[in-house]
Formats: sequence, C-alpha cells, structure tokens
Amino acid sequence: MVQKAYRAQIFHLLDDPYLAGDAYQYFKDGLLIVEDGHVKTVGPYRKLAGTLRPNTKIQHYKNHLIMPGFIDTHIHFPQVDIIGSYGRQLMDWLQDYTFPAEAAFKDPKVCANTARFFVKELLRNGTTSALVFGTVHEASADAMFMEAQKKNMRLIAGKVLMDRGAPKNLLDGKDMGRAATTRLIKKWHGKDRLGYAITPRFAPTSTSEQLAMAGTLKAQNPSVHVHTHMCENKNEIKTVSELFPDASDYLDVYEKHGLVGDKTVLAHGVHLSASMCKRISASGAGMSLCPTSNMFIGSGLFKLAQLRRHKVRHALGTDIGGGTSFSLLTTMSAAYSVCQLRDLSLSSMDAFYMATLGGAKLLGMDKYVGNFEPGKEADFIALDLKATPLVARRLKGITRIKALMFAIMILGDDRMISETFVMGKSVYKK
Ligand code: GUN
Ligand code: ZN
Repeated sequence: MVQKAYRAQIFHLLDDPYLAGDAYQYFKDGLLIVEDGHVKTVGPYRKLAGTLRPNTKIQHYKNHLIMPGFIDTHIHFPQVDIIGSYGRQLMDWLQDYTFPAEAAFKDPKVCANTARFFVKELLRNGTTSALVFGTVHEASADAMFMEAQKKNMRLIAGKVLMDRGAPKNLLDGKDMGRAATTRLIKKWHGKDRLGYAITPRFAPTSTSEQLAMAGTLKAQNPSVHVHTHMCENKNEIKTVSELFPDASDYLDVYEKHGLVGDKTVLAHGVHLSASMCKRISASGAGMSLCPTSNMFIGSGLFKLAQLRRHKVRHALGTDIGGGTSFSLLTTMSAAYSVCQLRDLSLSSMDAFYMATLGGAKLLGMDKYVGNFEPGKEADFIALDLKATPLVARRLKGITRIKALMFAIMILGDDRMISETFVMGKSVYKK
C-alpha cells in the first residue's frame, strides 16, 4: 500500500452551503493523507502527523491551499480553436464558426491532437472531471476517451447526434448515430473512470426521429447520461417552437422523446419558465450554468433565484468555445457577476460548491469525487496563494476563510493552479 501526505491550507465542502449552512471544512495547517489513490483522511496537521506510516514523506505546500479538483459540467473539446470568435449570437455563431471547426474532426488525427491539448488544458486549469461534447464523428469521442483514460480521469463524454440544421458533412446518415453511439457505449461506458453521455446537440439539429432513437438508446442503457443544450438563447427558442409546433415548450420536446431524467444535464437554461423549472426539478435532471458563454454569446443572465426556488439541480460549466475560459475560478467570478446583475450575491461557499461537490452531484459522481470524504478518489489541486504580485498582496492580510475563498475566485485563474493530482498522482505541475 502506498501512502502519501500533503501539508497545506486545506479546504473542501461537505454539503450544499445554500441548504445546509456552513458545510465546509478548512484547516489552516492541514494534512491530506492519501492511500492507493484514495483519501484516507483530512484534518489538522498536528493531529494527523503522528498517525502516518514510518516511511511516508510529507509534501509541504507552503503558501498553498489544497482543495478538490474542479468539475466542469459542460464543455466542447472540439471548440478549443474557436474560443474568442468575434461578434455573433448563438445561431449564427454555430453556422459561422462552430460547424466549420467541427467539420475538421472527420480526420482522426485532428481528433487525437485536439483531445490531447484539451485534456492538458483541463488539468492546467485544475479541472479533474468534466462532461464533454465531441463532434458528430465517432472518432472524436474515441479520442476524448483515450486521452482521459491515459490520465485516469473521471470523465463523461459523447459523440454528438445531428441529422438536420447543419452542413451535410456534419449530419448522421440514416442509422449512423444509433450504430456509433451503441458502439461507443459498449466500448467506453463504465471502463476505468469513464462514462458515456448520449449527446443530441439540441432540438434544432435533430429530427423527431433522431430524438426518439436517442430516447430509446437511453431506455436500453439506463446508466448512461443524456447531455444537451436547452433555452440558451431567444432565437434558438423561437426556432424550436417553429420546428416542433406541437410541443408545449422547449423542455416538452425532450420530455416527449424520453430524454429527461435524473441523468440528464441540460446546458444553459437562461430562459426557463416556472413550469419548466418544476418539471426539471421533478424529473431529477439538472442545469449546467455557463456564465462566460452566456455573456459572450449575448444569451442573457441565468436566474439562480428561480432555480433555487424550484429546487432545480445546477452546477457550473465553461462551455468552451462559447465560453471564454477553461478556468472554473474565472467561471465562478462570472457567475458572481451574473448574480449581482440579478440582485443576488453569490457567496464564495456557494460558488466553490457548484465548482466541486455540486458539479460531482450533477454528474452523478459524488460517490467518488467532489470532496475529501474518506474513501473518495483523491483528485485535488494545489492553489498558489502567491501566484501573482497582486494575488500575494491581496490575500496576505485575509484571515477569514470565506473572504479568502471569495478573493481567490475573483482574482484567481489558471496562474493560480500550481499542481493537479488525479487519484493521488501528479498530472500537472506549473
Ligand atoms: N447550442 C447548440 N450547440 C451549441 C454549442 O456548440 N455551443 C453553445 N453554446 N450552444 C449550443
Ligand atoms: Zn455548449
């Protein structure tokens, strides 16, 4: 048995602070003990140091804070090369930038190269788990799973399903989507730490037949996820009402095709009605909130108060490449700004919950990751509290943990991540 020990300031969340109050632990001088890639225990250094095995060396991270790895609940790996493409709303942005970029993934080499870069970039930003969109090409999902498997990451991904509303070379031909999805589920779902998500892009790019096929696949494979977009942008919603005139609203399209359940993650939900919130909540599905994307694409400001009122599960996503940063710290900061503009102050504890344990819950992985409960897989990061001169100066005088975490989420970004660990193994070091 291999035992490792990490000494630093240590922070993690035990529950949802919005519902459970001060559900966090913070050890100013803490020790995290890891055995065979799993958390053995976490607590004050002076209490735990004496319990270590005689040969265990302590790695001391001075001026660092160790916390669980970030969880990105909505991201597109094929869109790394179109981040920051100028000046379009969603439907034009897809046609002008996204679809041409995704067409390049018919080449398996492009899939492999981009997946390699993408996984590196996740880890460089302290993100240890994610729910990932591929392209319509089967090889894109294969490449994503292969790269995540190399790093032993807990990650869910899927091949996109599209059979209309995009250039012909990006559409599943008859029966292609079903056959490829079936092969990918068999090959990857439940393998190591990987999981599959059936991934219809969104209602405008699938016919009713394809959505029904996706619903049937979900019924045949109850443990897989469903991952799609919904109610992101006003023009998108109008398109859906034109394409599905019999549906009572956008959610109804997915409901009618058997795609809404407790393993469904719907990205965005900027424009939800009370009825949709009630039905999402009752189904156990959840929303991935993507504030940098919503502001960049001009989609709007999500309504956290409404989601809370209806007990709709939610967490954070970067939505690269509509989103503008891989960093969950930057995403938390953007979420705070969105909430401010809606007259709600998002606390640091709420934000860090959404980026860690809340994300794990949304993706159904909280049994394994999200905090340092004994027995969980040891995915964690070390944040450099002196990452930049300004960060060092600003954080130096802070004594209260909530204020410290707040300043970290507002000022922090990838520069603050000094090391990333997956199952106790260092996979990125600044
Ligand atoms: N809706 C459908 N596809 C996409 C996409 O690729 N990005 C975003 N932000 N929204 C979408
Ligand atoms: Zn998206």
